[in-house]
Amino acid sequence: MTYHATLLSSIAVYRLSPFHPLAKYPGPITLKLSRMWVYRMAKSGKRHEYIRTLHEIYHSDIVRIGPNEVSISDASAIGPVLGQSGLVKGPGWDGRVRYMADRPLISWRDPVMHAKRRHNWNRGLSGPAIKVYEPVVGDRVVQMVDLALKQPGEVVDMVKLIKYFAFDIMGDMGFGGGSELMRDGDTHGFLQAVIDGIDDSILSETFPWLAYYARNRLFDVIESAANRAKERVLRSKGTQDLFYYLSNEDGNGKDTPPLEVVIPEGVVVSIAGSDTTSFSLNATIHLLISHSSAYKRLQEEVDRFYPPGENAVDTRYHSEMPYLDAVINEALRLYPVLASGSHRATQKEAVLINAWCIPPNTSVRVHTWSVHRDPRNFSPSSDSFWPERWLLANNQPCPDPKPSDFVHNTNAFHTFSFGPANCTGKALALREMKMLLCHMFQQMDMKFAEGYDPKDWDKDLKDAGVSMEVGMLPVICTPRHRT
Ligand code: HEM
Repeated sequence: MTYHATLLSSIAVYRLSPFHPLAKYPGPITLKLSRMWVYRMAKSGKRHEYIRTLHEIYHSDIVRIGPNEVSISDASAIGPVLGQSGLVKGPGWDGRVRYMADRPLISWRDPVMHAKRRHNWNRGLSGPAIKVYEPVVGDRVVQMVDLALKQPGEVVDMVKLIKYFAFDIMGDMGFGGGSELMRDGDTHGFLQAVIDGIDDSILSETFPWLAYYARNRLFDVIESAANRAKERVLRSKGTQDLFYYLSNEDGNGKDTPPLEVVIPEGVVVSIAGSDTTSFSLNATIHLLISHSSAYKRLQEEVDRFYPPGENAVDTRYHSEMPYLDAVINEALRLYPVLASGSHRATQKEAVLINAWCIPPNTSVRVHTWSVHRDPRNFSPSSDSFWPERWLLANNQPCPDPKPSDFVHNTNAFHTFSFGPANCTGKALALREMKMLLCHMFQQMDMKFAEGYDPKDWDKDLKDAGVSMEVGMLPVICTPRHRT
């Protein structure tokens, strides 16, 4: 007892002492002292806002957010932390995979193994591969809008419907079908299991060692996704979906990985591909309905390219729709899915990032939420939805004049992260988002249900570590053109 008390107090004294290698970086005593507080902060769901406040109250672009963890809010650190010669993934990823013999791409901390695994992922999410997925996405887009309009004038919970939509697409694309949440609802509890798993993932991220002992619902999701992946690979029916490339069914990859290497990827398909896209879509829709002038401008652009009778899931006009791009970028700037940044870490050596010396074995995050809302990067109105800033920055025709204090640092925008471990699904995610928005805006009008307060969005918003979770988004949809 005395031994343990002495040990714990020595650790506490050391963590707070000027001899700790992170002593020169400011931060709250609680977070410096124990990861228990780091866990509490993350579990509160408000980590994204809290860390931003810390950067503000300490007037510092680097703050200590754990005994061995720092957050950086300076955009110029994005390259050194996340770029080609940047840091490796952080130890939180060890906790998220526990006993797995092999790992999914997203959790490989060894850069050599990561690059090896990334090869087939890149092939499966390349432009030509995505072109083949388009009809599958198109069918789901039409199904989703038909559902939203099934009972015109009734309240639809967009959050739920779009989650179903995104999970069904990844089911088609990843596992050759089998997910019919939009048709049947979450009758098997699959989506709820993913939500619970994401919730528990914060525990494994904060205490990777505890993941070996604690009951964690994330591992149920990993296991069930691996089973679905195994079924799909053994079926090997030649459908050009993601596993077609991941298991090198086309024979054009560098090698054909064995089954035990491919099936862990199931969890990435289930979570990284679905929850991220559904959150981003919901954020975009929420912002559009809350901002009538942006809503109207997007409506006009969609009407120009997709008048009644034109197939709005045809992607051919996407590259000619600057306002659609601007709206999506602006929504992703305000609501990045990894709001508290991607977890990275130094290894055995100290690393110099800008002028900051980061000691060995230190976790580092570039705090996306702060960087994206920093007036040094986006001005004016850095906390507000103003898609026109993207038109002005790209010298595209814009109805709004350029303000004298206009700042637009495109390099600060890193919703899809940056460098060799950035989001490999970016092109697919954007394609899905654009197809759905064009079809929705062609087919229906949307408004918030009576009694819904748009301010609830930010109140309910939770940083869930690997994604963002929101409450309800009650919307009333009515058809625009009766055919
Ligand atoms: C709007 C939707 C999406 C957003 C905002 C998003 C964002 C991100 C972010 C921030 C990361 C972390 C990168 C890092 O650690 O530096 C990531 C990783 C990843 N994402 Fe996405 N993502 C989206 C959709 C998708 C989709 C549709 C897929 C398709 C399966 C996908 C597949 C992946 C994969 C495989 C990784 C791991 C990359 C690696 O470790 O090399 N994502 N994503």
